[in-house]
Amino acid sequence: MSDNSSNAIDALQWENRRFPPSEAFKDQALVAGTFMYDTAAQDDLGFWAQQAAELIDWSTDWETICEWNLPFAKWFVGGQLNVSYNCLDRHVLAGRGDKVAFHWVGEPGDTRTVTYSDLLAETQRFANVLKGLGVGRGDRVNIYLPMIPEAAVAMLACARIGAAHSVVFGGFSAHSLRDRINDAEAKVLITADGGYRRGDVFALKPVADEALESTPSITGVVVVRRGGNEVAMQEGRDHWYHDLMAAADPVCAADPMDSEQLLFLLYTSGTTGKPKGIMHTSGGYLTQVAFTHKYVFDLHDDDVYWCTADVGWITGHSYIVYGPLANGATQVMYEGVPNFPGNDRFWEIIESYGVTKFYTAPTAIRTFMKWGIEEPAKHDLSSLKVLGSVGEPINPEAWMWYHEHIGGGRCPIVDTWWQTETGGIMISPLPGATTTKPGSATFPLPGIGAELVDENGVRVDRGGGYLTLTRPWPSMLRGIWGDQERYRETYWSRFDGRYFAGDGAKLDDDGYLWLLGRVDDVMNVSGHRISTTEVESALVAHPSVAEAAVVGATDATTGQAIIAYVTLRGGAEVTEQDLRNFVGEEIGHIAKPKAIYFTPDLPKTRSGKIMRRLLRDVAEGRNLGDTSTLADANVVTELQRRAADVPAED
Ligand code: WTA
Repeated sequence: MSDNSSNAIDALQWENRRFPPSEAFKDQALVAGTFMYDTAAQDDLGFWAQQAAELIDWSTDWETICEWNLPFAKWFVGGQLNVSYNCLDRHVLAGRGDKVAFHWVGEPGDTRTVTYSDLLAETQRFANVLKGLGVGRGDRVNIYLPMIPEAAVAMLACARIGAAHSVVFGGFSAHSLRDRINDAEAKVLITADGGYRRGDVFALKPVADEALESTPSITGVVVVRRGGNEVAMQEGRDHWYHDLMAAADPVCAADPMDSEQLLFLLYTSGTTGKPKGIMHTSGGYLTQVAFTHKYVFDLHDDDVYWCTADVGWITGHSYIVYGPLANGATQVMYEGVPNFPGNDRFWEIIESYGVTKFYTAPTAIRTFMKWGIEEPAKHDLSSLKVLGSVGEPINPEAWMWYHEHIGGGRCPIVDTWWQTETGGIMISPLPGATTTKPGSATFPLPGIGAELVDENGVRVDRGGGYLTLTRPWPSMLRGIWGDQERYRETYWSRFDGRYFAGDGAKLDDDGYLWLLGRVDDVMNVSGHRISTTEVESALVAHPSVAEAAVVGATDATTGQAIIAYVTLRGGAEVTEQDLRNFVGEEIGHIAKPKAIYFTPDLPKTRSGKIMRRLLRDVAEGRNLGDTSTLADANVVTELQRRAADVPAED
């Protein structure tokens, strides 16, 4: 276990408050007892087959529920479906075309209401646009968009014609976008001129242009007009979305696809410098995201659900696009930041749309805590029924604040643990069935096998261990694009027959799971996964930098903060801000270190390995124990002296 994890275990030891669902909540809940857990425990494959049959429309039935050749799974083998049909057509055909799919709220205050009929019409046209640009089944399409309805349209249009999308978060740099396009060998890029963020337009197309200088596979670029900022359009390659849409055929059939048809790639940081293209396919993925969205949020027909994630992350894929739309839910989609124009923007949106189910991240909650209870108190939040948390461990204090000041003491909180790789929620309360404890994600969902093991892979029933998943699940990743060896090595080699998630966790005396954070070299900054190696590679790419070590240090708001230690080349001069900006250009602004310390030397073992754990101790201001294995102990004393200075903020 890492030091981080053992500290967290101590901090959680006292937490024993319990919150059972109220009788009123249970009365209306989809699941109030244990029957779903019991059914799944008897026959998990049968359980998933039942969900797939109930929640999804198939054009051909499957022959085999799950084919498992460790580490490769196939689900609902032989079955055929169209994911976009399941998210759109079937709701319209059932007479629900006028139901609102998205109440979209632009940051400057403009709004759009998009019904299921609207979304279907737009998706069909855009599917034809893609076909017109030469995109067909099996091709890859990159998406680099702000939080606008066109992001969902673009994803669904790909799904409709069997092309795989690869969405890149708008905060990533040109270099990151270029690398992801090239790794996927995408044919088409869908982007926008720009989007709104904190009152300003941030440019996307100009950033994309820089990436497009070295992306030989791209033959067409579609640009949505949103920011109104000036952009250059390259003749023959670049097209305005509105022009292509106006000329497109309005009808595009939803052809059946194989259950294992690649639905999307989503790149995520691993422990090396190179991001992994996580592969997700169709039938199993849609089944699990529809199932979890329905039962974890206790979805009712009149709900207004709002997930504050960006579509650039897995949460946006599974719990803004595929899960909620498969379930025919009405959602809020918001373009901007929580503090524009005021710190109460989220609460204002909840009040004006009567949001009932709200899903956000602990970092956001801790930020709201800093802004004070008077912000939510300005608004009537009594429409809320269930609150969700995702992305990082939620500390009991933030949990309690969320419960009291947002949920009015009456809303169950679902702390949902999962990953880009798992595709859907794995560990979470069911709000009408589970007694929660502040800070615990509680239990694996029905049909999911999760266990802790020690260093040697031996099962741990009480206390701390490594989180593993014991059997395949429908929305599990199907591998890493172009590198199945890395897939096996990363997830399936550490513990025999088990998926290793990379997280530490603890089981308390009542069998509740407490997630404790990553145990590998992946940092979790504001719920965003960033690898230490990736930031180090970016830093050493700067001509002035000789060597760099990066650690994630505990941070009261963002969970972890990126702290870098840098040794410059002889005679080189560069400022901390220059280097931070350089990392921003190499990876994206989310990867900029919070602080960079210049040091003539990095602490190394006698064999030359950088002592990261020690650097983290320095960054977190901890007393250092034995430094006798260190090549030069003076380095540490010097670093400690510097770390005592206040680090820079963005
Ligand atoms: C962390 C986000 C504690 C965890 C859906 C995991 C969490 C990583 C929780 C995946 C939670 C996510 N409690 N930790 N409820 N949810 N994590 O791929 O470390 O961006 O491995 O997926 O976030 O991050 P990813």
